[in-house]
Amino acid sequence: MLTAIRRLLMVVVSAFILLPSSLPAQQKPQPFDLIRWNDGKFVYGVDYYPEAWDESMWEEDAAIMQAAGINFVRLAEFAWAKMEPAEGQFDFAWLDRALKVLNAHGVKAVLGTPTASPPAWLYAKYPDIAAMDENGVRYRYGSRRNYCLHSPNFLAATRRIVTAMAEHYKNHPGVLGWQIDNELGDPNCYDPACRAAFQNWCRTKYKSLGALNKAWGTIFWGHTYSTWAQIPLPWNTLFKTYNPSLALDYHRFHSDSTHDYLKLQVDMLRKISPHKAITHNEMGMFDNVDYSRLNTALDFVAWDNYPMFGNQNYSEYMGPGLAHDLMRGSKNNQNFMVMEEEGGLPGWSVFWGRQAAPELYRVWSYQAVAHGADGVCYFRWRTSRYGTEQYWQGVLDQDSYPNSRYKIVAQTGKELAQLTGLLHGSKVVSQAALLVSPDSRWAFHIQPTVEGFDYNHQLHLYYDAFRRAGVNVDVVFPQEDFSAYKILVAPTLFVVDKPLVEKLTNFVKNGGILILTFRSGVKDEHNVVTDQTLPGPLAELAGIAIHEFDPRTNQEQQVIIHDGTAIPARTWFDILGPTTARSLGTYAKGYYAGKAAITQNRFGNGVVYYVGTELAPEYYDVGIRQVVGRLGIESGPKLPDGVELATREKDGKKILFLLNYTDKAQTISLGQPYRNALTGESEPADVQISAFDAKVLVGAGF
Ligand code: GLA
Repeated sequence: MLTAIRRLLMVVVSAFILLPSSLPAQQKPQPFDLIRWNDGKFVYGVDYYPEAWDESMWEEDAAIMQAAGINFVRLAEFAWAKMEPAEGQFDFAWLDRALKVLNAHGVKAVLGTPTASPPAWLYAKYPDIAAMDENGVRYRYGSRRNYCLHSPNFLAATRRIVTAMAEHYKNHPGVLGWQIDNELGDPNCYDPACRAAFQNWCRTKYKSLGALNKAWGTIFWGHTYSTWAQIPLPWNTLFKTYNPSLALDYHRFHSDSTHDYLKLQVDMLRKISPHKAITHNEMGMFDNVDYSRLNTALDFVAWDNYPMFGNQNYSEYMGPGLAHDLMRGSKNNQNFMVMEEEGGLPGWSVFWGRQAAPELYRVWSYQAVAHGADGVCYFRWRTSRYGTEQYWQGVLDQDSYPNSRYKIVAQTGKELAQLTGLLHGSKVVSQAALLVSPDSRWAFHIQPTVEGFDYNHQLHLYYDAFRRAGVNVDVVFPQEDFSAYKILVAPTLFVVDKPLVEKLTNFVKNGGILILTFRSGVKDEHNVVTDQTLPGPLAELAGIAIHEFDPRTNQEQQVIIHDGTAIPARTWFDILGPTTARSLGTYAKGYYAGKAAITQNRFGNGVVYYVGTELAPEYYDVGIRQVVGRLGIESGPKLPDGVELATREKDGKKILFLLNYTDKAQTISLGQPYRNALTGESEPADVQISAFDAKVLVGAGF
């Protein structure tokens, strides 16, 4: 009897243990298919503001859009005052008419919810909707994005306009979906509603003031809180100095608040118009929000790409490549679209940047596609005659003349239509990944550590080297699974928590190659400095102990590698004491000459490199080519400066994108002939590419 009961028990227990695998495999959400969504067409569009042009122009606009292969527009994201001219009174008749004209020319739309630019009457009636700066002054009416995310009056107004739009357009066949607001993320608001919301956020996170005081180390300067209401925001303090732990939580709070505001709109739209897709236009390297969390609420990612603007975030070498990959990585590497692709020279009150050769607009569109875009939409159809953006060129200028940019856009439109069958279902496949840590980025904003330190620059040093070697790179975020990659680079991983250390450890144990760099493992998740020997919880993995460092931004050091080469080094010098690691390079100068600067540690089945300093860029090329070569990752040919090679894959076969951003014709040795997917002609192994040109190449099988 006893044995029978025991056996029965065992059956029950083992059934329980086996339960997960005996259940049907969890359905993985299908990636959003932009081309299917757009009736099988590559999403090719312009951002259009019919409300700003005489209605008599709409018909011709739509006709010449169609002639340029345009099948998509984004509309209405700044038209709140026109759609709700007075509180609770709505007028969509003009938008209905515009949609009718556009739809008749085969152009479908995404509508922007217009909350980025609230009407004047709303400000006048509810002054508390305006965000407050850190000095306690509310922004005055006249710009945009100047609202408070926690203002009850603004939230009520948001609900009203979004509901009205969703009700009106929920069954409109010419409306494909929604864009929430416009470029969410700024400004930070310091008004009483935001402060109270931050205090609540802290209460939810820490549960007790004791836990918060401990986590933030408020013993320092006696900044101990005895009520939740005492907790400040990181605002205008003397010397602008804040508790770094409070400041990091404030960044997270702001990012969460942005997410919650977006989610408020998403939830309403999904309820009222469940069959329309939802996206948001983001800003690439912009980091006041954690896009990897924001994007969980969306169907697909869209972003605004201005290669000739904000170049500080882009590399000289290949412009917005990393921004594309980061945007793709912020939603599981799903294909995405560019909602605002540069269509002309950027400017507000002055022209910014350099004028680009018109052909470059085509090359940048192909670059977007090469990095995973299934849609490109130019900002804007026609340059505005009015307001702040009179100097921000659209595809057409104010005179509507079919200029050289229009011709290039039309050429690109025809080509992308021709390539749609080939592109549909293909995606970027990478074996290398770059870890972007929003916590580390924010912590470096709070304490740059050395003058002028730039986290994005550290990302680019490694990213650009992969790209120059013709190797695709995915961007991953700490909460994601990176076990599928062969090599992971985690530059300046300043803030780490236990789960991340565990994941990195398992990644290496299972055979992964991990590259860590200086200032890693310094802080815990509360932005508190570790009490372990640096690199803190990563020390065992890296097989090193760092007892000294030298932050010498301006002075040049050198690192001597095995063959005696002296590599210039700068920014920061971690002086490495190998425990289980071996030295790959030593410092040349100063009292620590001869001490290790770069190490390699075998750990489990994998290897960890620790690069304790910033090297001259060309040496990343050498190192990355060696490592990917050893890993059997296919790298590309030697590429001239200003030429990019990127690939998408379909059914295991590669589609090559050769992009020449330079004003010179170039020859690239691809090692085998390919077929030009546009001309159908064979291209020799030493392929020629003209100045400012893009080529799409396929091998046998396509
Ligand atoms: C951003 C915005 C657009 C426009 C352009 C140009 O990307 O989303 O509305 O303002 O910049 O300034």
